[in-house]
Amino acid sequence: MTAAGDPPGEPSGSLSRRGIVAGALALAACGPRANSQPAAGPALALKDFALFPFGACVQASHLEDPAIAGLLTRHVSQITAEWEMKMEYMLLDTGGFRFDRPDRMAAFAQAHAMRLFGHALIWYAQKPIIFQDMAADRAAFAAAYDRYITAVVGRYRGRVCGWDVINEAVKDDGSALRDHMWSQALGELDHMTRAFKVARAADPVAPLFINDYNLESVPAKLDLYQRLIERLLKAGAPLSGIGCQTHCNADLPAGALTRTIAALGRFGLPVHVSEMDVSITRSRGLLTPRAEREAAQARLYAEAIQAFCDLPARQRFAFTVWGMRDSESWLVRENRNDAPLLFDGQGRAKSSHGAVIKALAARRKAQG
Ligand code: XIL
Repeated sequence: MTAAGDPPGEPSGSLSRRGIVAGALALAACGPRANSQPAAGPALALKDFALFPFGACVQASHLEDPAIAGLLTRHVSQITAEWEMKMEYMLLDTGGFRFDRPDRMAAFAQAHAMRLFGHALIWYAQKPIIFQDMAADRAAFAAAYDRYITAVVGRYRGRVCGWDVINEAVKDDGSALRDHMWSQALGELDHMTRAFKVARAADPVAPLFINDYNLESVPAKLDLYQRLIERLLKAGAPLSGIGCQTHCNADLPAGALTRTIAALGRFGLPVHVSEMDVSITRSRGLLTPRAEREAAQARLYAEAIQAFCDLPARQRFAFTVWGMRDSESWLVRENRNDAPLLFDGQGRAKSSHGAVIKALAARRKAQG
């Protein structure tokens, strides 16, 4: 049976911890095999091996697909909305709000004892018409900005385990902060500080994150991200968590993820590996045989898990993958030859899944 066909209610906790770990290590020792595991039985459940929340992004329609919902309930303990908790969905051109799909995700999370992570409040890539129309009127813009954050954060108060407040603030080459509608209207640093403060007022307890990508592949970007975090903290922003998207390519050199996650951990704040996937088609080494790129992909997932496990337990906020099956990945929508996730289009666990389980099991064993 494929993982997607797992009996939904199968008690994943029915195996002893020792049995789980021994089984996983034995499985991992079986040597090279095809990229997807043979459909011999249910894939080992990621969340049972992780000593921290294991997450995946979802779209509301996925929750009604039994194959995807089955994978989610078996493997993850946290979900992030892939796009339906962004302005592009929740904020209408009239200025009104649309909460139906986010509410469905919140209900699904609650029904399955999962956490829901809020993503994302302020993102340069979102340019709602109503804000564009107000750009010249700073006071009106600021009031609408506060109103948006207050409404959204207030609605999900008590139902989310955290929010990405500022998403992707640093330019791709790491030379400067991005310049966009939000920074132009409210100030480069001030629009961020303001967003954190307004979010904190609307939810006094949810951890509030900053989040960015290519931190492992562009050293200047990691550098500026760290400086930005320092500046925000100094300015009194209630920033309480650090996101590392971890959208990687299979040719990322070994060690880069380890260095990046360790560097972000030095702030002492919770760290979220927030959107991991590993593209096998965006790599420079496209002439490398696919099997080698898939092996590299599995090694990168394992490295990220190991680096995350090296953080103190209180800093391991969650490890999130950007989708369950390759067939739903945003990267596959761009290039159908890509296969960046832990499960193939049939919901079968890939060698990347085996590598994650092996890394998690080894860490559990080391902790006795
Ligand atoms: C992507 C989604 O996967 C797509 O479905 C959507 O069209 C665009 O956004 N960084 C982020 C995510 O923070 O929100 C992005 O998600 C991927 C990059």
